[in-house]
Order: sequence, then C-alpha cells, then structure tokens
Amino acid sequence: MPVGFGIIGCGMIARFHARAIGDIRTARLVACFDNVPQAAARLANETGCRAYSDLKKMLADPQVDVVTICTPSGAHMEPAVAAARAGKHVIVEKPLEVTLRRCDRIIDACKKADVVLATIFPSRFHESSQRMKRAIEQGRFGRLTLGDAYVKWYRTQQYYDSGAWRGTWKLDGGGALMNQAIHSVDLLDWFMGPVKEVTAQTATLAHRRIEVEDVALATLRFQSGALGVIEATTAAWPGALKRIEIHGSEGSAVMEEEDIKTWTFARKAAGDAALLKRLTSKTTTGGGAADPAAIGHHGHTALFRDVLEAIQKGRAPLIDGPQGRRSVEIILAIYQSAATGRAVQLPLQRDPVLPPKPRANRRRK
Ligand SMILES: NC(=O)c1ccc[n+]([C@@H]2O[C@H](COP(=O)([O-])OP(=O)(O)OC[C@H]3O[C@@H](n4cnc5c(N)ncnc54)[C@H](O)[C@@H]3O)[C@@H](O)[C@H]2O)c1
Repeated sequence: MPVGFGIIGCGMIARFHARAIGDIRTARLVACFDNVPQAAARLANETGCRAYSDLKKMLADPQVDVVTICTPSGAHMEPAVAAARAGKHVIVEKPLEVTLRRCDRIIDACKKADVVLATIFPSRFHESSQRMKRAIEQGRFGRLTLGDAYVKWYRTQQYYDSGAWRGTWKLDGGGALMNQAIHSVDLLDWFMGPVKEVTAQTATLAHRRIEVEDVALATLRFQSGALGVIEATTAAWPGALKRIEIHGSEGSAVMEEEDIKTWTFARKAAGDAALLKRLTSKTTTGGGAADPAAIGHHGHTALFRDVLEAIQKGRAPLIDGPQGRRSVEIILAIYQSAATGRAVQLPLQRDPVLPPKPRANRRRK
C-alpha cells in the first residue's frame, strides 16, 4: 500500500511536489487543499487527486499519511500544526516559518504528536553537496578558514506583484535572504556551522512596492573560528547560478548550483579528478537564478524518499525541524544586525522586532 500524500497550498511549488511524489513508487498523491477552492480543483484536475475545500476534512482523510505544506512562508504554521494534531507526518517548504516562535510551535506540535517533521532544502540532496559535506567531515580542507555563499539572482517587479504575500514581512518574512538565498544559508551552515556571529547590511534598491530587502550582505564568524560572507540579491540582472566557496589550510572547493567547479586538495585522493569531471556540468536548469520555476524536482524527490525512510525506520529525517529552524535564525540575526548596525551573536534569545524601519513609501497599500 503506497504512502498517501496530501498537498496544502496549490500554487507554483505544489506542482514540483506532485511531480516528486509521482516519481516514487511507494508514494501516491491522494489529496490537496487550498484556501482558494479553484486552485485546489486545478491541481486535482492535473494530478487526479481529491480536492478539498475544508482543511479539517482533508486531515480527516485516512488515506492521507503525510502532508506537504506549500502555503506562503508566513502561513506554514497553522496548517502544519493542524496536520500534526491530526496525526499526519509533516513536510514544510522553506523557510520552516518566518519567526523562531512560529518555527518552535511547529516543532513542538510535531514532537507532541510523535510525527516526523522535515523542512525542504532540496540542494542538500544534490551529489555535489553530499560530496562537499563528506570532504569537510573527513578533514580534507585542513583547518577551515573561509566559507562564502553568493546568490546573485534576478526577480522582476512582476514576480513581486504576482502574489500579495510576496515581498511582505508578514508572509514572505524577508526578501532576497529569507525567500531566495535561504537554500545557500542552509548549505553554508551545514558545511561550516554553526554560525556564531553576524554583521550585516541590507537595502531595497531595484524593486518597488516591497517591504523587504532585495540586496543583503553579511559577514559571518563560525563557531570554529572560520570567517565567511553571504551576498544575496534579487536585483542582479540577468541572474547567475548560486555559488558556495569553501576554503581551508589544505584545500579549496567551489560549487555552482549542482556543479563542482573547483575541487583541489593538498593531499590528493583517488577519484578526485573523476569526481570533478563528472560533477563539473551537472546543472540542467537555470537553478532559479532568473526564473523561480526553472528548477528541477529531483531534490524534492530525494528529500521525500528520505522522509519515507525516516517514517519506516523511526529515525529523524536529514533536515528535521530544528535543522530547518537554523537558517531562519541566521537570517533573522542578519536582519537584526542590519537594523541596529551592531554585530549579533547566535543563538538568538528571541525573535528580533521586524521590520526594523517600516518604509511607508514602499509598503503595499
Ligand atoms: N524549495 C523551493 O525551491 C521553493 C521554490 C518556490 C517556493 N518555495 C516555497 O513554497 C511556498 C509557496 O511558494 P509558491 O511560489 O508556490 O507560492 P504561490 O503563491 O504560487 O502558492 C501558494 C498557494 O497557497 C495558497 N494559500 C495561501 N494561504 C493559504 C492557506 N492559509 N491555506 C491553504 N492555502 C493557502 C494560495 O492560494 C496559493 O495557491 C513558500 O513558502 C516558498 O518559500 C520553495
């Protein structure tokens, strides 16, 4: 009997979830819900699943074992908590939520209900990311010195205008960092973390009618003593593939989306050259650099498989709730530093008060 999935929020990313579920022999998309009934009906039509216009009814469907949450970022908590209380396993799109308090409420609800909770960061499942993580764990970089993430993407004004939630503090939770660069923030922290201190600046330069930043720059100090930089924007036309650089006293590696562009170590290992050759042009999509829909669904498929195995074996998934919360915390610390002009230490004791300086002329009417 396949594991039954239900999708909550039937917009852009829901289509990728449906494709990823469709790729797994032991999974089946059985239901969907959206607070706009026509949106659920459209997805149901495309996929052959049941459309619900009442979340309670979908959560009472005994064929739904796992739900995936695809609502706007600041509207993840309510359906995630309701699903956990109904005994469903929960997979939440990035960011887990837009405040630490709201992340914690999801984590607590899933813990209380004893259901699996996973956060979606598909890039972690790419072979390049897995190889990078393993090389770090094996100590191949020597002493880690610098870890940098560059996300120089482009989003049109129409993108922000396409949904009332986009570019708002309440529902997007932030801009280039919280929505787009969060994939790289998660990877960098996974590779180099934990992040111990941030200093940052943000600006809104090239888009109108948004409350949040379209350019952000942060310097990082990791607990290991290594330093790093995050540069993130949705205002760098035409948009370049996201890039992560890891450097140490005995090695350097550079990832561009799913490609490994540099892989060089003082102490060589068998297979280095073959790995570099195989992974140097692996990216087959635009990586979301200019078009949010120009992404693959294979990372989602791998993540859903991991969740299914976690459920079966009673273990935590690779990216559980606390793991999903980490990138939110780092980004909130960056926003706090940008607002106050001071370095901010992690872990944060509480959510910073955001938005720091409401810009009346930029706010949505
Ligand atoms: N992993 C990735 O690569 C990736 C890519 C894009 C988006 N996302 C994330 O997915 C989420 C959705 O993004 P999107 O681009 O699909 O947005 P979208 O606007 O295209 O779709 C959101 C859908 O949710 C519905 N909705 C809104 N509030 C709801 C509620 N309370 N209950 C039920 N349905 C509700 C809307 O009607 C809409 O159909 C965001 O959190 C975003 O950050 C992740």
